[in-house]
Amino acid sequence: MKSVQTVLNYLDGNQDRFVRELCEYIRIPSVSAQTERRDDVRRCADWLTDHCRNMGLDAVVHATAGHPIVVAKTPRSKTSRKPQFVIYGHYDVQPAEPFELWKTPPFEPRIEGRSLFGRGASDNKGQNFAHLKAVEAYLKTNTELPCDLTFVLEGEEEVGSVSLETFLKAHRDELRCQAVVISDTGLPGLDYPALTCGLRGIFAVEITLCGPSRDLHSGLYGGTVDNPAMALCQLLAQLRDKKGRVAIPGFYDDVELLSKADRKEFARLPGTEAEYRKHLGVPKLFGESGFSYNEQRGARPTIEINGLTSGYQGEGSKTIVPAWAKAKLTFRLVPNQRPSQIRKLVLSRLRALCPPTVRMSLTVGHGGEPYLVSPSNPMAQAALRTLKQAFGHEPVLIRDGGSIPIVTQFKKILRADSLLLGLALPDDNLHSPNEKFSLDAFEKGMRMSALLWKELGALKTI
Ligand code: BES
Ligand code: ZN
Repeated sequence: MKSVQTVLNYLDGNQDRFVRELCEYIRIPSVSAQTERRDDVRRCADWLTDHCRNMGLDAVVHATAGHPIVVAKTPRSKTSRKPQFVIYGHYDVQPAEPFELWKTPPFEPRIEGRSLFGRGASDNKGQNFAHLKAVEAYLKTNTELPCDLTFVLEGEEEVGSVSLETFLKAHRDELRCQAVVISDTGLPGLDYPALTCGLRGIFAVEITLCGPSRDLHSGLYGGTVDNPAMALCQLLAQLRDKKGRVAIPGFYDDVELLSKADRKEFARLPGTEAEYRKHLGVPKLFGESGFSYNEQRGARPTIEINGLTSGYQGEGSKTIVPAWAKAKLTFRLVPNQRPSQIRKLVLSRLRALCPPTVRMSLTVGHGGEPYLVSPSNPMAQAALRTLKQAFGHEPVLIRDGGSIPIVTQFKKILRADSLLLGLALPDDNLHSPNEKFSLDAFEKGMRMSALLWKELGALKTI
């Protein structure tokens, strides 16, 4: 019988090809939010499907009302029953704008030292590719996989995973599994491999304030009609207090306080406030007092303006009262806040704050529940052992600030917890210009995946 060492040797021997293939994957601009990229998103799904087939997986691309979902399975043995796992990832990426802030074009991957630059390199192409390559290593060396694996790779994560939810309901039986393995989160450093036990939830809403029926001369009309941009700023300013707390009645009612154990785990994380501040380029940190920045990010709710648009921002001046102003807002949620309840509170507060001098329209966007799971079950313990072996360092438990709304759907629909084993480093620039993926994280991630199937396959209790 071939051992996992054969698999690891295959991984070591093929690194350069894996990096070249990952570059091909990144070159496809699969931006899910932009209609003009629809064909590119489709092309990316097809590329992945072909790639999976060439690796020896049984792969199908499923059309949806939105972007396609790729499902790829390891060949099933007719004789032995093995534990089953779903490996989830997303092949869609965030918009790359503003392009001018990229050192080199976002969809022309570039290697500098041990970093691979490109939109989606870390979030999430590089991370899901690490799992694909680990499985390729089993298949191409004819080493028996200790588990039956099904990859579910979607194209709508960055826009709320709407189609995947429907897909999970329709394919519940086919996707039955002991757990879902996901690498779409972060780790504090290569010497701090991490099991993520918590993610924040999210609620998104867009506000439009309309004033006059057209842009007006601000000298002739200013002072007689409200200015939608000003009205929007004044409205938004009332949604957060000076201490960084969300100023919406009832918003904190369901927020669970941090436990002693949680705070202890947060305190184990490396890095200082000064380093964090410097890394982000701000003159001073901002946030709720009484919490460290890791606690603020991981376990406290927030409101953020993601985009704010109105009036004239072109060259020179244009003296107008703009006809409209828009803002895109998201709230990050923590246990036990529910997006449906937050939606009610937010919408009614916005309506109450809107002055009679403008018309307001509200468009609700994606929602996702917060996620928190205990690391004490045997699968999480197996994952922690694997992290230690693959990275050569003691792992940490983290609660991260980002959201992967589908994880709570995996729980509800498939009744499966998610093992979140992230490979994104703090300086990977997720969603920012010059996103990158560490080739060391890639290498370690592939080892982690290869070893994980051995550890999980050996569990007697699942
Ligand atoms: N990979 C991220 C989420 C993430 C990153 C979690 C790092 C923890 C650490 C994911 O692709 C993402 O960006 N999700 C969106 C979800 C939203 C669009 C519904 C997010 O968090 O903004
Ligand atoms: Zn993302």
